[in-house]
Amino acid sequence: MVCSTTGEHVVSLGEPSETTPLVQEAQEIVHVVGSAPEYAIPLLQEIQRRHRYLPQDLVEAVSRESQIPLSTLYGVATFYSQFRFKPQGTYLIRVCQGTACHVAGAELAAAVIRQELGIQEGETTPDQRFSLESVACLGCCSLAPVLMIGETIYAKLSIAKIKGILKEYHGSASAKEPSHVGS
Ligand code: FES
Repeated sequence: MVCSTTGEHVVSLGEPSETTPLVQEAQEIVHVVGSAPEYAIPLLQEIQRRHRYLPQDLVEAVSRESQIPLSTLYGVATFYSQFRFKPQGTYLIRVCQGTACHVAGAELAAAVIRQELGIQEGETTPDQRFSLESVACLGCCSLAPVLMIGETIYAKLSIAKIKGILKEYHGSASAKEPSHVGS
């Protein structure tokens, strides 16, 4: 605003403060998903879809924008295993530890991956390329043991096969899976 007497620019105390990118993103998310308490899960899913985990500052900003208490959002986020609180690597490796896979040698498969990547389940490699998780069943028990990277299932795993798969992903520069079909 310009002072009519001096012609100088002055800032009125009533002017809205600048919207930060964080607040802007929180507003976008709430606008797209909704702000009612029953939207707590979709709001968290949208945050995670964008960032592959739940950044604390964004969850807090969404809480402010939606007026859903932070305790409610974190209560939901900690209840469901789909939500992550730490950044996830470009490639999420899910190793099935269901009964059929366990019997077929899933633990050995997981051990090979842990050794090759130097991480434990729930961790991400320092270069942010791979994260490792165990899951209960991937729904293709007849192909045990199996693992999943992104949307691709790899079946009837052997030590050599696992090493070959990881090598392919190490060589892949993009966030897409290598072009071959998992089998
Ligand atoms: S137990 Fe592994 S896919 Fe079902």
